[in-house]
Amino acid sequence: MPVIAVTRERRAGETRVAVTPETAKKLTGSGFSIVVERGAGEAASYADAEYEAAGASLAAGPAEAISGADIVLKVRAPVDEEVAALKPGALVVGQLNPHQEKDALQALAAKGATAFAMEFVPRITRAQVMDVLSSQANLAGYRAVIEAAAAYGKVLPMMMTAAGTVAPAKVFVMGAGVAGLQAIATARRLGSVVTATDVRPAAKEQVESLGAKFVAVEDEEFRQAETAAGYAKEMSAEYQAKQAALVAEHIRKQDIVITTALIPGRPAPRLVTAEHVASMRAGSVIVDLAVEQGGNVEGVTVGEISRTDNGVTIVGLANLPGRVAADASALYARNLFAFAGLLLDKEGALAPDYEDEILKAALVARDGGIVHPALQ
Ligand code: NAI
Repeated sequence: MPVIAVTRERRAGETRVAVTPETAKKLTGSGFSIVVERGAGEAASYADAEYEAAGASLAAGPAEAISGADIVLKVRAPVDEEVAALKPGALVVGQLNPHQEKDALQALAAKGATAFAMEFVPRITRAQVMDVLSSQANLAGYRAVIEAAAAYGKVLPMMMTAAGTVAPAKVFVMGAGVAGLQAIATARRLGSVVTATDVRPAAKEQVESLGAKFVAVEDEEFRQAETAAGYAKEMSAEYQAKQAALVAEHIRKQDIVITTALIPGRPAPRLVTAEHVASMRAGSVIVDLAVEQGGNVEGVTVGEISRTDNGVTIVGLANLPGRVAADASALYARNLFAFAGLLLDKEGALAPDYEDEILKAALVARDGGIVHPALQ
């Protein structure tokens, strides 16, 4: 029976866990045996006893959990202590962040691990259930609005009271992918007046269907901005200048700005400049969801909430899914459960089909080397 190990996440601030009691039960039901490090689910509110009840056995530490495992399921890339405990040829699956965390990937390759990066699972229909980018970005978009509301010294909905009327907050969402669309929906539910922008024309209809107004430079380049994979391209300097002018006009009237713009494999585009920030009213709030990829906002600091001289709060908190760790883990663990199914053959033996489109796309290290074409 293939053995799966689950350890406590050791990267700074990581509160999620790769397997929940629910998926531990499903995995044991599908023919895996599960070893969980004691306390692995604690930060996400899953107790050791729940894992035991789900059929997992508990291990005292990471090495005890990992040393006998055929597969190690992680949220983030394993740390050195965990890599050292891997047995030869063990499979490691997680959000390995391979473009940015090259050393961690190199360490896995050097140890002879077979590593899969969940971010590289292709967005084909069969793989939707394994789409960790979507499951986590959706929660990040929700949480961004909650963080903004908490940092904002006013309320979001319009309120008509005996003491007078409170105006609704104006919220501007920049980047209307999975996170942005959830941010729009959440801000709308809280009663704010929402506008949104993106460079992909397909986003316009999606934004409008959520009851928000679409604001963008809709020129010829905009009409061509979506790649075959559905992602944004890096825009030309001319487009960026036109976009900056539009943003300058719009942003100074906003109370809350939430930025989510990303370009796969590239640093996040700079959408909000220091001048834009300086033009905003005191008390306004900006939440930069792209902060870990370099940030969309000039002056944002990873992991910090800062206040500018003109009284604008810039929220640069990292890992927003980790701030809703129980749900983020539940969804991520289901993504991994679906992925783990690809690693077994019909008889339940560990036999990944490396010709499978999904495994092929996600495979980043094997036989001592880094194998993904995008990482060469
Ligand atoms: P992402 O996380 O890569 O980027 C977030 C958003 O930022 C995107 O909408 C992108 O167009 C936008 N952006 C990039 N540069 C920008 C700029 N300079 N100014 C303004 N906005 C900018 O994207 P995400 O959330 O992963 O979604 C990308 C696409 O994939 C969407 O169309 C989404 O609906 C689609 N998708 C498809 C799935 C499937 O078919 N299984 C699953 C999930 C998403």
